[in-house]
Amino acid sequence: MQIESGVSLKPYNSFGLPATANTLVRIGSDADVRRVVDHPVLGLAPKFVLGGGSNIILTRDMPQVVLKVEVVGMRLVEARPDAWIVEAGAGENWHAVVMWALAQGFPGLENLALIPGTVGASPVQNIGAYGMELQDRFESLDAVDLRTGLGFTLTADRCAFGYRDSVFKQSLAGLCVITRVRFKLPRPWQPVLGYLELERKLVETGIAHPSAAQIADWVIAIRRAKLPDPAVLGNAGSFFKNPLVTPEQCRDIIGRDPEIVHYPMPDGSIKLAAGWMIDACGWKGKAIGEAAVFERQALVLVNRGGAIGSEVMTLARAIQTSVYGRFGIRLEMEPVVV
Ligand code: EPU
Repeated sequence: MQIESGVSLKPYNSFGLPATANTLVRIGSDADVRRVVDHPVLGLAPKFVLGGGSNIILTRDMPQVVLKVEVVGMRLVEARPDAWIVEAGAGENWHAVVMWALAQGFPGLENLALIPGTVGASPVQNIGAYGMELQDRFESLDAVDLRTGLGFTLTADRCAFGYRDSVFKQSLAGLCVITRVRFKLPRPWQPVLGYLELERKLVETGIAHPSAAQIADWVIAIRRAKLPDPAVLGNAGSFFKNPLVTPEQCRDIIGRDPEIVHYPMPDGSIKLAAGWMIDACGWKGKAIGEAAVFERQALVLVNRGGAIGSEVMTLARAIQTSVYGRFGIRLEMEPVVV
């Protein structure tokens, strides 16, 4: 277990925001978490679990002990007749795992290709894209309790998955370190093609029965076309959640803004496209300091270089105020603000 002091977190958050961790410990195994819990000083200190840093906004230096999860490994756990069960260490890069599983002949994660971040963060915010959510492919995970140092395993029914939400953002927030995640990849493989942009690819290419690798290629192309690469332009993906409203609220808004993009949800509620609303308020390309609204997707805020957390937050609040003023909808931030 390595204990480091005064570590810059700039390289460890995809927004590229400046902040320093007083103390940072790299976690390579469950035993490392136990060592931290049992440590005479670190054990008592408040802790912050850092994955790939792709969903956090750092607004200040971190007095907490930052646990940087670096647990590695990818393997097939079980070949069940109905599913491949595949496991990956929480510190593995998410996209690398998607591509590894595909190359090994375990398809099923392709719609989630190119999502930035680590495997350990994937259940925390129940990552989702192009018609699939992590919970659709989740089997179980291993974690270590930060109070006791004891390991435990959770299956999907205990994770309270919701839209960009889970028990790890709620009652277990800050209380455990996820060390490994297992995925259930159904056999036989079935493509998930319902998302409008994937349907467009079917028509454009004339490929009626794409392979999983083909779908991964499409998803990668779609993402590259409209989402900034954090390695080039710092960002945290979608900055706000798409709000859910009642059909009555939606009718009200449509009455005033007939163009609003909205999708009916299985539970009867309506999801509104936050990106569309922000765009409609004229925010695309606007900036506060070096924090800006991405020109090609208004739901994404970016770091034009040298932005600080407070600029990002000022921009975010200004957007919330303007969307509330026009639509009466309060946009909820997606990344965790530290
Ligand atoms: N739109 C605009 N203007 C904009 C942005 C969007 O008019 O500036 C419209 C689009 O034309 C489209 C609709 O809004 O009709 C929705 O846009 P898009 O398909 O890009 O998806 P999104 O709702 O903005 C969500 C997820 C993304 C995910 C995509 C694809 C959330 C918060 N975001 O974005 O997830 O990749 O769908 O499934 O649910 C993330 O969570 O970080 C993320 C990138």
